[in-house]
Amino acid sequence: MNESKWRVTFRIFRKRSNERPYYDSFCIDVDPDEYILDAIERLWAQHDRTLTFRHACHHSTCGACGMRVNGREKLTCITTIRSMTKDGGVVKVEPMRNFPIISDLVVDMGDLFSKMDRTRFDSVAPLDDACLPYEKPRLAAHSNVQEAERLVDCIECGLCISACPSSSTDNEYVGPAVLAAIHLMYNQEPAQTLLDLADHHTGLWRCHSAYECTYVCPSGVDPAWRIMDMRKKVIRNRLKSVFSRSSKEKSDE
Ligand code: FES
Repeated sequence: MNESKWRVTFRIFRKRSNERPYYDSFCIDVDPDEYILDAIERLWAQHDRTLTFRHACHHSTCGACGMRVNGREKLTCITTIRSMTKDGGVVKVEPMRNFPIISDLVVDMGDLFSKMDRTRFDSVAPLDDACLPYEKPRLAAHSNVQEAERLVDCIECGLCISACPSSSTDNEYVGPAVLAAIHLMYNQEPAQTLLDLADHHTGLWRCHSAYECTYVCPSGVDPAWRIMDMRKKVIRNRLKSVFSRSSKEKSDE
């Protein structure tokens, strides 16, 4: 075998409508620096045309290729084989958790997208919020530039939800991606209605602060920090309203 090649076994999760799930194994020679998604495409092209998986941009922009690789949430188009295994090793590829499985590695993300729509989060950001480098001097005076710079990078890949232990145990939980979107919208325009959307037992208060979402996010959105920050804002608003009510009562006495 070519010395620059590795022999790797891919164990791929398979599931069709009512069938029981199982794993298919494919032992192939790979370039260790190629991406997991490239290898999956090769498996599809050369070994099994019935394998279903999702991808589009191949450069970490569309969020379509999220999967679990050796138990960790990854964008497979930017994850090298070398970073996940060694020569002679195994790469286990599974669909994301906490979403219904449609087929093999494809999950149904409809619920996430409709929840994101409800926050009115701009997944395609206006120019000011996108903060292109040549716009920065002008935007530097804008207090929310840092916030906008970070969250416009949310690609709605769902990896944060797959990694979230609270999402695993409660499918009513709105999840880290949606809460992070609400946080950005609130920072841009602090409307109480946005906080109300998050201030709920299936929202902010369902998070157990595991920080897994932040750990796996490929875009540096840091949903866990955003959830904690929003909790502070909610508590601050509640305290303010308690104190203003009690001082009003005193002044009425
Ligand atoms: S294929 Fe678009 S993010 Fe991976």
